[in-house]
Amino acid sequence: MYDFIPDNPYILLTPGPLSTSKSVRNAMLRDWCTWDADYNEGIVQNIRSRLVALATSNTEAYTAVLMQGSGSFTVEACLGTAIPKNGKVLIISNGAYGKRIIEMAQILDISHVTMVLTETDAPNPNKVAAILAEDSDITHVAIVHCETTTGMLNPLEELSKVAKAAGKILIIDAMSSFGGIPMDIGNLDIDFLISSANKCIQGVPGFGFVIAKRDVLEQCAGNARSLCLDLIGQWRDMEKSGKWRYTSPTHVVRAFYQALDELEVEGGIEARYKRYCANHSILVNGMRDMDFNTLLPDEMQSPIITSFLYPDAKFDFMRFYEAVKACGFVLYPGKISQADTFRIGNIGEVYPHDIRRLIQSIQEVMGDML
Ligand SMILES: Cc1ncc(COP(=O)(O)O)c(C=O)c1O
Repeated sequence: MYDFIPDNPYILLTPGPLSTSKSVRNAMLRDWCTWDADYNEGIVQNIRSRLVALATSNTEAYTAVLMQGSGSFTVEACLGTAIPKNGKVLIISNGAYGKRIIEMAQILDISHVTMVLTETDAPNPNKVAAILAEDSDITHVAIVHCETTTGMLNPLEELSKVAKAAGKILIIDAMSSFGGIPMDIGNLDIDFLISSANKCIQGVPGFGFVIAKRDVLEQCAGNARSLCLDLIGQWRDMEKSGKWRYTSPTHVVRAFYQALDELEVEGGIEARYKRYCANHSILVNGMRDMDFNTLLPDEMQSPIITSFLYPDAKFDFMRFYEAVKACGFVLYPGKISQADTFRIGNIGEVYPHDIRRLIQSIQEVMGDML
């Protein structure tokens, strides 16, 4: 009989999995039957309708599908189901997650064109409009909202306008932003929005979800390039009874339900956004005071995760990482090719007082590293 539940030894300042509340972790401490209405109606259907309500006030027009696996599985399911065999997608990429969508299109044999930018460049909506005007075969546009590679917030509103003005179906990877940055996908006319359990809703990893325009999703029957990652197959079963087609990650799902409750108690997405912004501003001001510069200018930066440049060529990130970890904070290495960076996330069960303690710890670590 194992009844020891350890406390977390450190706070994860990473873009997911992230630090979760003890109550979210405790919610996993019972088993559920996947045939039973307690689970399917009480938990799964409730989650699906709450996700739609978080995404838009136009709840009639949208529906939610949950999908087993990490976020990438859901991105792949969405691409493979949303784009028909004779479709063509424009993929806008300025980081690792845009690049991953390109790789998925290649492997799934989806016809695509790319707009590939450097990791510090934001997509220009006029250039996107020009590509769409030139190539009338394009049917879909795929964009990453917050490019977690750098922390850049791509200009969703402007890009959505351009894609919709050209009559394209819009797929948004909002993995690291949904739940943490207010948006109404109905107002933005987004057709498919993708995110996962272990990002700004602050659940634990194990499934992703798509919030899709119901009538657009209904037209996707027969498109899927995979049995398991068929969003339509999953959606049809879930619509009937809340049952997942294949084994559902029950404990993770129950933890997510708890995380949604906690988001509500916090005051919803607007309140969570304010907390992340407060975390971010304390972080950036404190780091700049220690001569750590941000990779991105403030106007491109999201409050989700921030990339910092190494202070000098001698900076030993692994030594710094281990020392900061010993103080109770886990940071994230950089992911970009153009500069030496590391990243610090603001999302999860992390509060301004945690970030203040982090800054104090970094001051001490930097003093020791001299
Ligand atoms: C924007 C974005 N897209 C996709 C992913 C991939 O998600 P996962 O690592 O859960 O597969 C991530 C992960 O951080 C992400 O930030």
